[in-house]
Amino acid sequence: MKKNADKSREETLDPEDWEAMRALGHRMVDDTMDYIRTIRDRPVWQHAPPEVKARFEGPPPAGPECPDEVYREYIRSILPYQVGNSHPRFWGWVAGCGTVMGTYAEMLAASTDAVSGSFAYMSNNYVEMQVVDWCRTLLGFPLGTSGLITSGCSSSTLIGLAVARNTMAGYDLRAEGMHVSGKQMTLYCSDEAHSSVQKAVELLGFGNNALRRVPVNDSLQIDIPALREMIAADRARGCHPVCIIGAAGTTNTGAIDDLNALADICAEERCWFHVDGAFGAWAAIAPEYRHLVSGMERADSLAFDLHKWMYLAYPIACVLVRDAAHHRNAFSLTPTYLAHGEGDRGLTGVDVPWLSDYGFELSRGFLALKAWMTIKEQGTEKYGRLIQQNIDQAHYLENLVQEAPQLELALPVSLNIVNFRYMRPGLAEARLDDINKQIETELQEQGIAVPSIVSIHGRKYLHVAVTNHRSRREDFELLVREVIRIGNKLV
Ligand SMILES: Cc1ncc(COP(=O)(O)O)c(C=O)c1O
Repeated sequence: MKKNADKSREETLDPEDWEAMRALGHRMVDDTMDYIRTIRDRPVWQHAPPEVKARFEGPPPAGPECPDEVYREYIRSILPYQVGNSHPRFWGWVAGCGTVMGTYAEMLAASTDAVSGSFAYMSNNYVEMQVVDWCRTLLGFPLGTSGLITSGCSSSTLIGLAVARNTMAGYDLRAEGMHVSGKQMTLYCSDEAHSSVQKAVELLGFGNNALRRVPVNDSLQIDIPALREMIAADRARGCHPVCIIGAAGTTNTGAIDDLNALADICAEERCWFHVDGAFGAWAAIAPEYRHLVSGMERADSLAFDLHKWMYLAYPIACVLVRDAAHHRNAFSLTPTYLAHGEGDRGLTGVDVPWLSDYGFELSRGFLALKAWMTIKEQGTEKYGRLIQQNIDQAHYLENLVQEAPQLELALPVSLNIVNFRYMRPGLAEARLDDINKQIETELQEQGIAVPSIVSIHGRKYLHVAVTNHRSRREDFELLVREVIRIGNKLV
């Protein structure tokens, strides 16, 4: 009794001064809008200098700081030194750039702190299920396909390949584990597949050696005859081919495997067909380019991001699995403390699965809200036009490169990625590699643009992945001018 007597000592994390906190929130929204609106006037990125880095060393604060001061510190020390991927001239690796509505949605999702994944009859789960269903429709999968929102294509691939493994093993793998498998299970992907495929294969216990890297053709697509030979050779030595992983857009070049041919081979060989469509899957909604990913809709599982080419703020991705029962069987687990149906007052009388039955995470954030609000705000037709605009911009840059005698294209543009280099006849290849690496560094460090560098056929090229709704043709013209200017200075 005594302990409870002094109620004035009870504490909370809610503000002491609600009106002051409201005013701070308004300032944050105002500053955020100004920041995004004027983003192209600032350098793409700048590294945090040592004195800024030093501000992030030290013990945790034992006492409170004024909220305004905490925010001032964010403005001073954090805001200017981030990666910069929301800038119109950020094209390195493959990254997204966020949306304004998505920014608000993240605040709204955080304000209710809705745990997503458990509890069937909650609006936040309905939102997630609707976003998954929109993705299913847009990407051409049939009714009955299941899916889950994830934090990235790496997670989506892990989930897709877990379902593949459990379904194709031919025994109760969840109960027995991998060691019962008499034959080595083998998987196939192109030499150009993303590292997340290898990570998933390793985590799932197949072992990296079970992932056969199939050579690629001149367009850097999986070599179909070589794939057939590798599968036949594996069968001959007693292995069990279980899965082919196709790429709908590789990270290096945007190459898209012949997905229809892969689907045919999977049907013949009784293999699972997984497609990594991290960004390239979304070519399916670009009116003039959807044929590029034809065959993707035949996949048993498809992993893709919404934080790259659907432009949504990190993190958000999705996995689709054609057979919902296989999907659920791989993950569903219901201990008594998670018994489904609490609070439903017998609305349906049936056991309604939770979203956590379709993935390895139980508690998840309300990631789907930013997708739901932005897609509703913009409409899917505009999204289709934007994906198309980015592909057209990649071809525009390709033309600029071809017209400039100082530049050389690595290979024809197949999707939205342009790889090119500064070139001076007579210079040794190793010197050209150095020069192009230095051009990348100068572009980044001067805050002009952020391409990255990739190696194609052993040589270094500037890598421009256009997954940015803020980029304009003038940005690519500037890039070309600056690459030539910096290159000319270096030779
Ligand atoms: C082709 C491809 N697959 C998978 C991934 C991994 O996606 P995430 O970073 O969302 O996990 C990427 C990332 O760039 C990618 O380009």
